[in-house]
Amino acid sequence: MNSREYFIYHEDPQQLHIGTLPPHAYFIPFGKGQDSSQPRERSELFELLNGEWSFDFYPSIFDMPDNFLETAPKSVINVPANWELCGFGKPQYTNVRYPIPFDPPYVPDDNPVGVYRRKYFCKGDGMRKILVFEGVDSCIYLFVNGVFCGYSQVSHCTSEFDITELLHDGENEIAAAVLKYCDGTYLEDQDKWRMSGIFRDVYMLSRESEGIEDFTVRTLLNKDFSAAEISVEIKAERNCLVSLYSPDNVKLGERQGRQLSFNIENPVMWNAEKPQLYRLEIICGNEAVTELAGIRKISSENGTVKINGTAIKFRGVNRHDFYPDTGYYASEQQLKKDIELMKSLNVNAVRTSHYPNSPLFYQLCDKLGLYVIDEADLEAHGAVEAYNTYGWTNGYNGIAYTVNRSEFAKAIYDRHERLIKRDINRPCVVMWSLGNESGYSDAFRESAKRIKKLDDSRLIHYESSRYTLDGKGENELDVVSVMYPQVDYVKNYPVSEETAKGRPLVLCEYSHAMGNGPGDLADYWQEIYGNELVCGAFVWEWCDQGIAAGKTADGRVKYYYGGDFGEDVNDGSFCIDGLVYPDRRLHTGALEMKNVYRPVYVSAENAAEGRFIFENKLDFTAVSEDWLCEYKIRDKGKALYSGELRLDIPPHESRRVYIAEAAGLTGEHITIDFDFYYGGESRGFEQITLFRCRRGFEFKQNNSWRLTGSGKSITAERDGKRIEISKRTAQICSLISDGCELLREPCGINLFRAPIDNDMSVKGEWYKVFLDKLKPKVYSITAEGNRVRAELSMGYAVHEPAAHFMLEYSFGDDGVRIAMKAEIHNGMKYLPRLGMRFFFDKSVEKAEYLGYGPYESYIDKHSASAYGAYSCKAEEQHEDYIRPQENGSHCGCESVSLFRNNIKAVEFISDSDFSFSFLPFTQEELASKTHNYLLEEYDGNVFCIDYKMSGVGSSSCGPELLEKYRLNEKKLNFIFYLIF
Ligand code: GAL
Ligand code: MG
Repeated sequence: MNSREYFIYHEDPQQLHIGTLPPHAYFIPFGKGQDSSQPRERSELFELLNGEWSFDFYPSIFDMPDNFLETAPKSVINVPANWELCGFGKPQYTNVRYPIPFDPPYVPDDNPVGVYRRKYFCKGDGMRKILVFEGVDSCIYLFVNGVFCGYSQVSHCTSEFDITELLHDGENEIAAAVLKYCDGTYLEDQDKWRMSGIFRDVYMLSRESEGIEDFTVRTLLNKDFSAAEISVEIKAERNCLVSLYSPDNVKLGERQGRQLSFNIENPVMWNAEKPQLYRLEIICGNEAVTELAGIRKISSENGTVKINGTAIKFRGVNRHDFYPDTGYYASEQQLKKDIELMKSLNVNAVRTSHYPNSPLFYQLCDKLGLYVIDEADLEAHGAVEAYNTYGWTNGYNGIAYTVNRSEFAKAIYDRHERLIKRDINRPCVVMWSLGNESGYSDAFRESAKRIKKLDDSRLIHYESSRYTLDGKGENELDVVSVMYPQVDYVKNYPVSEETAKGRPLVLCEYSHAMGNGPGDLADYWQEIYGNELVCGAFVWEWCDQGIAAGKTADGRVKYYYGGDFGEDVNDGSFCIDGLVYPDRRLHTGALEMKNVYRPVYVSAENAAEGRFIFENKLDFTAVSEDWLCEYKIRDKGKALYSGELRLDIPPHESRRVYIAEAAGLTGEHITIDFDFYYGGESRGFEQITLFRCRRGFEFKQNNSWRLTGSGKSITAERDGKRIEISKRTAQICSLISDGCELLREPCGINLFRAPIDNDMSVKGEWYKVFLDKLKPKVYSITAEGNRVRAELSMGYAVHEPAAHFMLEYSFGDDGVRIAMKAEIHNGMKYLPRLGMRFFFDKSVEKAEYLGYGPYESYIDKHSASAYGAYSCKAEEQHEDYIRPQENGSHCGCESVSLFRNNIKAVEFISDSDFSFSFLPFTQEELASKTHNYLLEEYDGNVFCIDYKMSGVGSSSCGPELLEKYRLNEKKLNFIFYLIF
């Protein structure tokens, strides 16, 4: 049989679904006597068809034999999976750019095909057999016993086929020919690994003829929330019996019919903090269905988004369905783990960027409590490239090019309709999102109207509605959505009433979490909390999208990113931009977010008098009995007092708290830490400085040092201590204590850091002036009394020196005082850092410090860290970003001691707060390697003491680093003491 004659739909945007059932709410029927509230696998009407299917892979549709359904299968594949992760073809990572020529609706002839086949044993029970695919990328041609029975597309939506007529009792064959590209590819240009195949669950449902086709549950609350109505509208041939149970499982009533409702006095409402669900049991003929219903109302009142009448903030993240080993496939356990991890990080909302997730995801969000912005499978970003390639001049508005082509109107309606119809009953969904980065068109306008007709209980979101080809702009949707705005934009929203029209603002993406960062979370949230028209923000993105590609000899997983599979169109490491590593270990950025999203903020009303204000940021939960607040008062990290507080603060309210021990303290650097626990689990902390008085290090000059200036260096010696300063570099080239050399190589002034992803836009400037390669030029160096003075510059080639320095070493009782006066070239863009770098022997391996720890901390990224006394080893300090970069710095430090074989070898002290890092890798190594598994340790430990380190920001996609976090001074003085 030549079945290729059926392959006629995938380049025709008017033919989207052939032989499929109409979209409807997700539900799984159970047999009548069964408990339908169990997991779906327990239903006698549900047969999971996951597992091994036989598989034939053809690199092109033209390579398929005519009788491709009759050939002996060549391989097997596990379903669900992306075939590129099973050895067939290769994954490709691209962000904006289409992987295929922009030639809609056509796709290349070299269009890879996977033919899946499996046997299906039909019992002959006379029931309808509905074959369900929850996700197939990009489209599917389905055959049963060699006969074509249907076609479907929209990768992340459900496709259902009634195959009853084509089955016979006994053994049957189901075959699915899946194509990598179809016209839908133009609408699925999401920034992700481009992969294919049957990637979500496949199952067969056995249905009776007049069963439920669809049903919609609506919950309506009265004005003062004292009463609610749950209404159920069922599409079925016969009447149903519906029972309602309360969240604590008390039967509240029973109704018969297809359109029915229950009235509830004093309803228990659903919210993400207390996700309480009513249970509906629907019996229709011989089928039973359980649906969980949450009574809740989302509204926008004069621009304030409310849930159940309470103003709300979405502390959100964007999540892709992505796992390093299973690709697009997410099992229920994986989903649950993600949600639990999010909740433990104080996240209360998720945007399903940029497509509907598996139906199980929403059920878990209902139960565990997360608000969801549910997004349609629609992104056409690549149009902007195509639109501008040949000189059309519509700039960024060209993004709307694809969706303005009338041939795609039907597909746009379809993608929206499938989203809404499938998820309409999910209480967790608070907004429908029309997609991502596709621009706006009349089709979107019309579709938004249709959505409102289907469901007017939720808000409609779509960031890209601002980009149009007709220049008309839009202000029709319910919320104003922006991505990566400046902090000030949030503060000043709305800039104009005309465009805002009393609508709330949401940051659908912000704080691009790529690599070392984000460094702006606290700044954003100060403004978000301060502006009631801003309903929240969603970090981009949840997880690093790295593919596990084997292990190194020492057992570390190699994560691949764009280009690693040899793709010629790729966007490199831009997919490695999550808060968690691919295996869900937390980045320091995730911890940062956790503490910015913390439930309780504390501020000092009057620290000296021990008076504080505690503010409960939760929307529905009182911080009361089940919460514990521990406080610890310390001076320079040394414990003074500790105690426990039992609080009772209603949501959104503040309370004054008086702590007697905190009053009237003096010392050096006294802090109070408040740690909050719920159910024994840490939810965040606050640190407040109670008293600080910089005493200054008492450095006693000492004239008994012997300074000799012979040959290439000047040597200072006293009591078995010896420092050598090179005349060529004016920097320390040997440091001997107890007869032992501590340095492996000479130290040097350092103005560079291994660029972090967020240095994307500035690193070009740094490299242009060779900040990474600067060499000292010493103009003069003299020894006089107990001092060595030098004048020098740091330059490399082409340009004037980047900076000029005066260095002064003066010798004292305990070591050397190093005073650095720097003058930075006026034309220099801000510096990554300025300080001195010491290359210590490997035996110098432990550090004790007073400063911000225990996590890496930067001037704009220290919400997860607190000032205190910490101890660490160099090898533990390295934060192993998949693409290596600057890491492990600590800001706000007062002193650091380094230990050699557990004996203190040197101490660095400064009277001004400094940053330091202590790592087994050099910045050159970090800057030159593309992947963490290629890093080679330095034969020693590198210690950097920095006058300042610029912040990290989130400029890999977000705005430029805020002025206040840049090392922008042109003239500066840095004095520190090296005690040894
Ligand atoms: C946004 C886009 C996301 C992602 C991000 C960069 O513009 O919506 O999908 O590409 O940029 O990581
Ligand atoms: Mg995009």
